[in-house]
Amino acid sequence: MSTQQREGHNRRTVNLALSILDADFARLGEQIAQAEGAGIDRIHIDVMDGHFVPNISMGTSVVRSLRPVTRLPLVAHLMISNPDLFIEDFVRAGTDSFLIHWEGNVNLHRTVDRVKTLGKRAGVAINPATSAAVLDEILPEIDHVLVMTVDPGFGHQRFLHTTLPKIRRVRRMIDEIKPDCDLGLDGGINTETAAVGVDAGANILVVGSAVLQDSEGVVAAMNKLRTSLGMPNKHASLQP
Ligand code: DX5
Ligand code: ZN
Repeated sequence: MSTQQREGHNRRTVNLALSILDADFARLGEQIAQAEGAGIDRIHIDVMDGHFVPNISMGTSVVRSLRPVTRLPLVAHLMISNPDLFIEDFVRAGTDSFLIHWEGNVNLHRTVDRVKTLGKRAGVAINPATSAAVLDEILPEIDHVLVMTVDPGFGHQRFLHTTLPKIRRVRRMIDEIKPDCDLGLDGGINTETAAVGVDAGANILVVGSAVLQDSEGVVAAMNKLRTSLGMPNKHASLQP
């Protein structure tokens, strides 16, 4: 359900991923159904262990609960110290795609290989202070690069414009080395920063609080975001 990027640029399909970190968990299924109806393309599940990042969030039980309520791809963003221990559990729970951090994973190739052997999509995430150069060796093997546009651990942070030159560099690397690899941005995406990120070369935008914490509701927030990207609305703005 994604839509072509607005005019005047490399026409690239833009995908919107909903980060559920700041969802109202008492109404998670309802919020996801609203976002799905309003044009979200995948669900982004932020898994935090309180060690790799200074926050504790959710695990396989959330994936297992969501699998029956949506057919959208479930993407596990693993901000945990030892992802290798949990890949199989997440696959059994219904995960379609993994985002594994480069930082602190001395066996990144092995982790990526494990994910692919299990038939799932493998992506690598890099933090704001990490250079694009670390992707040189692993890029040919992966389906997705996630550039963190905030320091990981919390939603509702300000987009780091200092990451823009790196996003452009990753876009050039992907176009040269692995053109079918996705380039996603995560953190601080809203109606002001979404188009900036796409202009820098992103084709996937993870959005959390800008959609889930908008006082006008999920559908209205999605419409505003899609409008800021020149995308047609998927759903009339209805107060939930
Ligand atoms: C932060 C997470 C993000 C975050 C995005 O560590 O990886 O996915 O939840 O939330 P917003 O869009 O509110 O910055
Ligand atoms: Zn995330």
